[in-house]
Amino acid sequence: MLKYSRIVGTGSHLPEKVLTNKDLEQMVETSDEWIRERTGIGERRIAAKGETTVDLAVPAARRAMQAAGVDPDEIDLIVFGTTTPDQVFPNCGALLQDRLGIRNCPAFSVEAACSSFIYALSVADKFIKLGDAKCALVIGAETLSRIVDWSDRSTAILFGDGAGAVVLKPADEAGIISTHLHTDGFYKDLLYCPVGPSKGFHPDEQGRIPAYIHMAGNEVFKIAVKSLGAIVDETLAANGLDKSAIDWLIPHQANIRIIQATAKKLEMSMDKVIVTVEQHGNTSAASVPMALDAGVRDGRVKRGDLILLEAFGGGLTWGSALIRY
Ligand code: ACO
Repeated sequence: MLKYSRIVGTGSHLPEKVLTNKDLEQMVETSDEWIRERTGIGERRIAAKGETTVDLAVPAARRAMQAAGVDPDEIDLIVFGTTTPDQVFPNCGALLQDRLGIRNCPAFSVEAACSSFIYALSVADKFIKLGDAKCALVIGAETLSRIVDWSDRSTAILFGDGAGAVVLKPADEAGIISTHLHTDGFYKDLLYCPVGPSKGFHPDEQGRIPAYIHMAGNEVFKIAVKSLGAIVDETLAANGLDKSAIDWLIPHQANIRIIQATAKKLEMSMDKVIVTVEQHGNTSAASVPMALDAGVRDGRVKRGDLILLEAFGGGLTWGSALIRY
């Protein structure tokens, strides 16, 4: 019989250094007022020199395992969502496995930009449902600051670093009710980082290696609002549910206006939405598990609540997960 998977512990971790909008005013032509009005972001955390994505993931994973009451030797699957891996290989899952002292379980990365955690969660859910794993560690962690062009005001204001983690175990009742994943590669040129080991690291016209995020913000914004609205409908329809059934929306934290549009679609008041974008900015794969952990730890999200997780990012990719916490 197919089992469900259930989140039995959450954790998160942020780097120490805070970069405020006021700090950014010294770096590019922008203002605290513009950033807050257009994005809802007040500050973001930036990894220290030499601090990597896996460095951030280790404490997040430990916290999730502690919350779940799970020892490292119980973990039998690691799925690591990230777009900013420490190195080309070994993958971040393997590096994390070593740091946590876990031996010999499948560990791999899933790369789908800001949707990476939802993708990773969906993969781990299927391993558990099919009986191929009994205790999965799912990570969303990023050091996006490493691929930000700090002289480009249209992207430098948006991104931050962080890590979130959940532990999944089998259960007779949901748990994760359904996941929904989408990619439309047609939009590959709207949001991208153009370098890589295969394509190469070639200088642009200014002689710089363009190893940073390029984004057509306005177009991405419109597609995000439309796609996330559609995935809300898809998720509700797949489960025969009305909007009113959802207790909490835990959205990707890219922009408060995108979050408000999705809440409006759900006819949900903003006090039923976990919002961390003001303090974290857009942490890509880390944003949803960090927001979930924030809601769990401050007592807003309770066992039995019905939660809609969603994310949207480069690819373009987007996805949702409906969970009974
Ligand atoms: N400070 C001040 N002015 C600015 C800044 C800034 N930091 N950035 C842009 N502007 C200016 C522009 O130059 C433009 O000026 P103009 O009218 O004179 O030409 C004006 O502000 C408006 O620019 P827009 O780009 O149209 O601003 P918009 O309201 O669209 O906000 C933003 C930009 C915040 C980037 C928004 O489009 C957005 O949030 N997009 C979606 C981002 C997203 O969700 N990405 C997906 C996930 S990320 C990932 O996957 C890695």
